[in-house]
Amino acid sequence: MGEEGSSHHSIAPAHTLYSTVELNSSHALPPTMSFAASPSTIMMKTYRGKLPFSIITVIVCSFAFLALLYTERISFLSSSSTLKSKSCARRGVVAKAKDKTTEKNLENPEIDDRFEFDPEECNIANGKWVFNRSVKPLYTDRSCPYIDMQFACVRNGRLDFDYRHWEWQPEDCNLPRFKPELALKKLRGKRLVFSGDSLQRNQWESFVCMIEWTIPPEKKSMKRGRVRSVFTAKEYNATIEFFWAPFLIESNTDINVLEPKKRILKVDSVANHSKHWEGADILAFNTYVWWMSGLRLKTLWGSFANGEEGYTVLDTPVAYKVGLKTWANWIDSTINPNKTRVFFTTMSPIHTRSQDWGKEDGLKCFNETKPVIKKKFWGSGSDKKMMSVLDGVLKKMKVPVTVLNITQLSEYRIDAHSSIYTETGGRLLTDEEKADPRHYADCIHWCLPGVPDIWNQIFLAHL
Ligand SMILES: *[C@@H]1O[C@H](CO)[C@@H](O)[C@H](O)[C@H]1NC(C)=O
Ligand SMILES: *[C@@H]1O[C@H](CO)[C@@H](O)[C@H](O)[C@H]1NC(C)=O
Ligand SMILES: *[C@@H]1O[C@H](CO)[C@@H](O)[C@H](O)[C@H]1NC(C)=O
Ligand SMILES: *[C@@H]1O[C@H](CO)[C@@H](O)[C@H](O)[C@H]1NC(C)=O
Ligand SMILES: *[C@@H]1O[C@H](CO)[C@@H](O)[C@H](O)[C@H]1NC(C)=O
Ligand SMILES: *[C@@H]1O[C@H](CO)[C@@H](O)[C@H](O)[C@H]1NC(C)=O
Repeated sequence: MGEEGSSHHSIAPAHTLYSTVELNSSHALPPTMSFAASPSTIMMKTYRGKLPFSIITVIVCSFAFLALLYTERISFLSSSSTLKSKSCARRGVVAKAKDKTTEKNLENPEIDDRFEFDPEECNIANGKWVFNRSVKPLYTDRSCPYIDMQFACVRNGRLDFDYRHWEWQPEDCNLPRFKPELALKKLRGKRLVFSGDSLQRNQWESFVCMIEWTIPPEKKSMKRGRVRSVFTAKEYNATIEFFWAPFLIESNTDINVLEPKKRILKVDSVANHSKHWEGADILAFNTYVWWMSGLRLKTLWGSFANGEEGYTVLDTPVAYKVGLKTWANWIDSTINPNKTRVFFTTMSPIHTRSQDWGKEDGLKCFNETKPVIKKKFWGSGSDKKMMSVLDGVLKKMKVPVTVLNITQLSEYRIDAHSSIYTETGGRLLTDEEKADPRHYADCIHWCLPGVPDIWNQIFLAHL
């Protein structure tokens, strides 16, 4: 890539993600900074005077839904329903699940931590956060040298630490602890590639940090780049990589972030990215937040050479569906499921609308020190339509994709974002900026150590 070593912060700072949104005329503030409400409220504002958002989405959804219903009935008969059984939880099958896993353990005595967890039977979205002070993260943002400033809350001055002592307790099973040695064993001789946006980078850094401390300095290496970074565990001949692809499909804003109006998504191609996915043994994807820059997106089929004029404007969920299908087609036509495992992390919730959990407007996730307790809490920063688009696309794929459905469990964690313990343009927030969470708090990304460690705990349990 030839860009190794340069700072990659410029690619996806929190404030570019939503820069779409209403661009305040005051240039003193980075663009997001005017972004205090949820994506959908903002969309309503932006499109004021046209059809109300809810009506549009109802229309879009009913079309999409009808189409899904129709095609699914057909594919249901012909395709395997691996995914379906994976994401459907049944209570009262725990006993059966235990029998099954015992069998598995007999076949494979080396992997001995499965006895309580069967990914086929346990719905990890169903559960609660349990506080346990004696649970310690495997690393800190000082011990792990690879954590971006964007996620290094304690290094950036956060003084309350309770957010690091919550464990996710699914209702129907126990999630096995993350064991670094086990992770390395499973990765021996393998290439694991995380690909997606800055939240996928959040997860990648968490994964690397959870294992790297067990490896002496001469037996590991890290090469950071703007778009591709590679951590190597030499003794294991294993790499854990990150490849930047915020929409998975190509766009004109992948590398040099453009303002939303100028963004064009090349929804029919993953070619520039897929080169870096080829040959991986384990692929872990995500894509969500970059799509949420407005009610509609400019999409392009064919070549950018056609210039600005060749694009089509699509409603966001429709564009998302087209883009995901392009990605899915690439997976289905390229990946041999006997050789490569594919994972997809669902949307990471955005907690910018403090009214969602009964706080005063504009505080966002600032000063939150406890998770939301309310069962099934679901804020406005996780778009259910987008989730159902993803659901639909994944269900129709030939290659089985393991869904890391982290949305619900992360929804509760309003206390675990970078908040004001973050950066802007490569420097820490000043005290004045810290005092202004409405404009400066990052309630999209997560502190490390923190919630992405739990995503990886779930990931490892499925690996
Ligand atoms: C809290 O964590 C410790 C250490 O992992 C564990 O031994 C203990 O059982 C946990 N307590 C509860 C109530 O889960
Ligand atoms: C290391 O892994 C790569 C594939 O990731 C393989 O091609 C190579 O032969 C392995 N080397 C050793 C020494 O095992
Ligand atoms: C794809 O890569 C080629 C060459 O590496 C480059 O010229 C082109 O602009 C890239 N396309 C996109 C959409 O990034
Ligand atoms: C995967 O393995 C199964 C069983 O060994 C075999 O029947 C199938 O053809 C293989 N699929 C591919 C794409 O190689
Ligand atoms: C933040 O929380 C602390 C402790 O609960 C409280 O004293 C302080 O007033 C809060 N700050 C704001 C701006 O709400
Ligand atoms: C993820 O879980 C939520 C419930 O928490 C569910 O509505 C959604 O369909 C699931 N998504 C996928 C892609 O499985």
